[in-house]
Amino acid sequence: MTAPPFKIAIAGLGTVGGGVMKALATRQDELSERARRALLVSGVSARDRKKARGFDLPGWQDDPLALAKGDADLVVELIGGDEGAARALVETALANGKHVVTANKALLAKHGRALALLAEKNNVALKFEAAAAGGIPIVKTLRESLIAYEVEAVKGILNGTCNYILSEMEGSGRPFAEVLADAQKLGYAEADPTLDIGGGDTAHKLTLLASLAFGTAPALDAVQVEGIGHITPDDIAFASEFGFRIRLLGVARRMEDGIDQKVHPAMVRARSPLAHVSGAQNGVTVDAGAAGAFFFSGRGAGEAPTASAVIADIVEAAAGAPGPVFGRPAALLAPLKPADGKAALSSWYLRFEVLDMPGVLAAIAGHLSEAGVSIESMIQRGRAPGEPVAIVMITHEASQAAVENALKAIAASDKVRARPCMIPMET
Ligand SMILES: NC(=O)c1ccc[n+]([C@@H]2O[C@H](COP(=O)([O-])OP(=O)(O)OC[C@H]3O[C@@H](n4cnc5c(N)ncnc54)[C@H](OP(=O)(O)O)[C@@H]3O)[C@@H](O)[C@H]2O)c1
Repeated sequence: MTAPPFKIAIAGLGTVGGGVMKALATRQDELSERARRALLVSGVSARDRKKARGFDLPGWQDDPLALAKGDADLVVELIGGDEGAARALVETALANGKHVVTANKALLAKHGRALALLAEKNNVALKFEAAAAGGIPIVKTLRESLIAYEVEAVKGILNGTCNYILSEMEGSGRPFAEVLADAQKLGYAEADPTLDIGGGDTAHKLTLLASLAFGTAPALDAVQVEGIGHITPDDIAFASEFGFRIRLLGVARRMEDGIDQKVHPAMVRARSPLAHVSGAQNGVTVDAGAAGAFFFSGRGAGEAPTASAVIADIVEAAAGAPGPVFGRPAALLAPLKPADGKAALSSWYLRFEVLDMPGVLAAIAGHLSEAGVSIESMIQRGRAPGEPVAIVMITHEASQAAVENALKAIAASDKVRARPCMIPMET
């Protein structure tokens, strides 16, 4: 190898940063051969220098920004967060002509286009394979492989915490809050799980996949987001009776009037590939137009899968030309034109908790019919006398707007106990 060593500075030495340090140390020769240059960690930074980490800290800096101003060829940002230290580090590194590799979906979902412009202006790489679906190489696939035909849709189970919780609820019949508490004890869920269970993390990742798939600037504000906190064991049991499973999906699809981006719990057919993504796994389907449909699954988080994606980006940046960040020059990324997602048609699963008294069913059916929503099938399940009754319906195709209008009227009725639940059926 005649080229000078490729100097790497790593900021953030937690789960992912630690994994990257260990993998670089143990596989240095093999990875350097692939990069056709010796890979050398020349600087590191984190919050606490004294923390025991199990690896050396070459070129330690208390301030991560120093890494962006030093002699490194590439800066790896593994701090996290859409502002603060992470944003300052990435901006400074790119402005100083250094390649950047990051796993930070929140940062890119919010500032992706501006950062891509900065990278391309300075002719350096900005790579983010680990930011969406962890170890699954879906970013590279959408950026470089499935490009010959127009992508019609990308759908993914992109948050392992939510998928773990839904899978556990399915397997054990236990309620959401109990399973979440266990997931926190086992380290599958954060102490503050809001970003995961509220759907925000999935929205960050979906934004990036949509940008790569459709050639639009990342548009986080255009994602309609609903989390999984309202899903009950009943919903999961009913889904199973109808031959479906409930998964939190990020869905981006081309519609006639623009791009529809949504995060929501969805009923997926029990025999579909996404239904078989269980536990903390991730899964992504891509409808690549004439090229057909593709399905990818694997580990979406954790030390080794995420480090695997980061290392692939490092080696690629060390070996070759940077290439446009989102697959097309950032200046050509069109602003995303949001489709009217509420007009999109779907069949719906609806669950009502009602008081068992005459006329309830007729009242629900009446409101649905007034909104133009027709019922395909129904299950009514009684409990002990005097207890509320669950009524579950599957509708024929109807728009989200029509179903929401009907549910608003139904919820206002004194016969319905809780907010009705509506979940789209994925086809
Ligand atoms: N964990 C995963 O499975 C996973 C998967 C995909 C993507 N990601 C993304 O990868 C990034 C890192 O995640 P992680 O799970 O590795 O986080 P983590 O375990 O919490 O590690 C964060 C690291 O950043 C350091 N840090 C925090 N604030 C800092 C500051 N102001 N200046 C310097 N260093 C600072 C911490 O220092 P100390 O160690 O001294 O506290 C720690 O080493 C995030 O963007 C995350 O979204 C993570």
